[in-house]
Amino acid sequence: MCPNPTKILDLGTGTGIWAIDMGEQYPSAEVIGTDLSPIQPSWVPPNVSFQIDDIESEWEWPEGTFDMVHIRYLNGGISDWAALFAEAYKSLKPGGWIEVCEFEMGVASDDGTYSANSSLAKYYELTNEAAKKAGADTLINGIEKAGFRNSTMRRIKVPLGSWPADPLQREIGECYLMLSETGFEALGMALLTRNLGMDPSDVTKLVNSAKRELSSKRMHTYNIHFFLHAQKPLKSSV
Ligand SMILES: C[S@@+](CC[C@H](N)C(=O)[O-])C[C@H]1O[C@@H](n2cnc3c(N)ncnc32)[C@H](O)[C@@H]1O
Repeated sequence: MCPNPTKILDLGTGTGIWAIDMGEQYPSAEVIGTDLSPIQPSWVPPNVSFQIDDIESEWEWPEGTFDMVHIRYLNGGISDWAALFAEAYKSLKPGGWIEVCEFEMGVASDDGTYSANSSLAKYYELTNEAAKKAGADTLINGIEKAGFRNSTMRRIKVPLGSWPADPLQREIGECYLMLSETGFEALGMALLTRNLGMDPSDVTKLVNSAKRELSSKRMHTYNIHFFLHAQKPLKSSV
């Protein structure tokens, strides 16, 4: 997509793992990761740096600064995707690319093992309802509206749990399950207590029950992760 990037921005970088990988892969590029939380390591490649910043406030980068803007797993935390895409668009050079990697808030199975009566289904139903109330726009559909073109979307199924027979898929499912061990409560607690008025102990019960279901391997669940790429036109009209 972006053959020789010289300046890359990673929004909501978290531990900075993607920014660090990119810095190693493109040693002549400058990679900047931003996040609300100062949780990034200090021992990083010399071309990688981090800044504490709220990406939902107005950006201070001059127009046309970056070759690539990267977003991964911010879904549920962004209240105005259109505004975020507009800032990303401005900050990119003409011809620059945006990459968005997100997942759908919900799971499915292809063999009927996922039950709509499960705690897992309840968990996703309530977190989606709470995220909507909190104003989070979980539909990433504003990318073309922001002026981006040449957009492509790749969707993949990622298993959740150690149920797959295939060893690689099983390993992926186990890693994802491990992530869910802490992620379910981290994502759900504030959303469900603040927006749906749930008692914290009820959230913990629901989360624990959903986690038990996942660990049991009875439900062959996966969720969809998608990779969206789009380009700022060489001749910008916005
Ligand atoms: C699920 S983590 C994803 C981290 C990273 N993108 C990755 O894929 O490894 C979400 C991150 O987004 C950050 N974040 C959420 N809202 C933000 C905001 N308004 N401004 C900056 N960072 C934000 C959080 O602090 C958290 O580190």
